[in-house]
Amino acid sequence: MPYETLLSAVVIGNLEVPNRVVMAPLARHRAAQPGDVPTETSAHYYAQRAGAGLIVTEPAHVSPEGQGGLAAPGICSDAQEAGWKNVAGAVHARQGRIAVQLSHAGRMSHRRLQEGGAPPVAPSAVRARGVQVFAPQDDGTPGFVDADDPRPLESAEIAGIVLQYVDAAHRAHRAGFDMIEIDASNGYLLHQFIATGTNRRTDDYGGSVENRVRIVVEIVEAVASVIGAHRVGVRLSPGFTGADIEDAEAQASSLYLAGELARIGIAYVHLADAHFIDAFRDIFNGAIIACGDDTAQDANARIERGEADAVAFGRAFVANPDLVERLKADAPLAEPDAATIHGGGEQGYTDYPTLGDARRSENNENNESN
Ligand SMILES: Cc1cc2nc3c(=O)[nH]c(=O)nc-3n(C[C@H](O)[C@H](O)[C@H](O)COP(=O)(O)O)c2cc1C
Repeated sequence: MPYETLLSAVVIGNLEVPNRVVMAPLARHRAAQPGDVPTETSAHYYAQRAGAGLIVTEPAHVSPEGQGGLAAPGICSDAQEAGWKNVAGAVHARQGRIAVQLSHAGRMSHRRLQEGGAPPVAPSAVRARGVQVFAPQDDGTPGFVDADDPRPLESAEIAGIVLQYVDAAHRAHRAGFDMIEIDASNGYLLHQFIATGTNRRTDDYGGSVENRVRIVVEIVEAVASVIGAHRVGVRLSPGFTGADIEDAEAQASSLYLAGELARIGIAYVHLADAHFIDAFRDIFNGAIIACGDDTAQDANARIERGEADAVAFGRAFVANPDLVERLKADAPLAEPDAATIHGGGEQGYTDYPTLGDARRSENNENNESN
């Protein structure tokens, strides 16, 4: 079998997964309006991808304030919880496994996405320069607009942010998710706390490495106390420089965090880039899910080298609902259509054919032309 290691079973936390092909979190901006509720179509989309060893959902904001894009789903209302329960149920009905990604966009947002038109919140009043978010444009139609000037969080508000994650963890638990992934990557709120360029705070949540990662540790501990550390993962991207992130101490903070996450005993760390992966692995004894620009061949080699236990794929899962089946058959992969990634309906979402579908329609065409 090709990609034998990638397609072999592994245990993450105490979840047995039949292969090491993880679906990466992919924002698709298709939640029902008003209310940012995951739809039946989203349940179908995730169920189509249930062959993944583990699905990580698109970012689900833990509070309305945490919303970073138009029609991104939340996990902070009863209707959203019911929508997610339907998603998790649909994946489980196809024998899949699914983690929900808890997210807070922080400054990667816009006042047009915020209740009452308030500015988005962030560790400090540092705007993400040259960064665009998916939000209503001046004429009200969806599109990409410059990230807004954020309001720095008061020290007294931070406990409330932690509670938003706790509330979302209860909702995730009730919705039936197998795991919870806490996003501290790619320039969103928790990464804004970790990185030196975006955190200018002088309280207990800014300054030293320990202080800058404090909110992450508090959230991970709190969420672990809700569903058990063995069901928690954290996504980090220490080398990420998009979203106007500058971090003079990325290595120090990610390795310090590795020790804290090992102490808490979480199931996995999802590294969205390969920076310091070996050093990280020396400290963190849970599973490592690596992600980014991997072909199946690279992913297989990475796991064989012992660098990671599993590899997450992003773009490949957009266009290949049956990615694992295609890898097993060493079949070609379809490419995603950029025009239908963000927003819209079923087109470019649930209508990518499986290999079986594609072969059947080819046969039909051949039969018709005969
Ligand atoms: C359509 C799309 C949406 C994405 N949305 C997010 C997101 O909301 N948050 C995030 O951290 N990463 C997001 N990513 C990044 C992916 O999780 C992944 O890290 C990236 O696609 C690299 O993996 P790949 O080379 O297999 O595509 C997105 C990627 C794509 C293609």
